[in-house]
Amino acid sequence: MDQAAVDAAILLHTIIDVPGYPRPGIVFKDITPLLADPIALAKVVQAMADPFKGRIDKVAGIEARGFILAPLLAARLGTGFVPLRKAGKLPRATWSENYELEYGQATLEVHRDAFAPEENVLIVDDVLATGGTAAAALRLVERAGAVPSGFTALLDLGLLPGRGVLTGIHAHILHTLAVA
Ligand code: PRP
Ligand code: MG
Repeated sequence: MDQAAVDAAILLHTIIDVPGYPRPGIVFKDITPLLADPIALAKVVQAMADPFKGRIDKVAGIEARGFILAPLLAARLGTGFVPLRKAGKLPRATWSENYELEYGQATLEVHRDAFAPEENVLIVDDVLATGGTAAAALRLVERAGAVPSGFTALLDLGLLPGRGVLTGIHAHILHTLAVA
């Protein structure tokens, strides 16, 4: 088995589907068993980070589940970490971007001084679904004067618009699910 197949096997074995959470009709991807497995965790951090070695100045993680992985990637890449937070959580002046959720709107924010001008930023999340969250993160990094040059996640749910928002970005998602 090659490395990519090994990584996919780890993901499929350690991420548990929870049907009906948090609402009927939604299948929640629970990554906590993956995080609790030391071998799986080390392998996914390596697989997510290494394609970006030497190309990235900062790693930005999307609240909440991107926060778990992003600092691990930053430490491996030798960069700092920047949180992209939900509305109202950051204490100093921020830039904001709104995005659509299944029910209503949400907002991501970043400190205005989080990035040096033109820094190359790797954006990290756990799952890409519709791509709305990723698209807002890309806009936010640009708004803050940096360059959203990379995106990585564990899983792409295989929804059509998801990958479209990453056009022109160096995107590395460990596994894409077939649409049922
Ligand atoms: C989930 C997931 C991604 C996002 C993907 O976050 O962690 O961030 O949805 O969906 P999209 O591609 O359709 O935008 P969510 O905000 O639901 O919860 P979290 O705060 O636990 O990360
Ligand atoms: Mg999330």
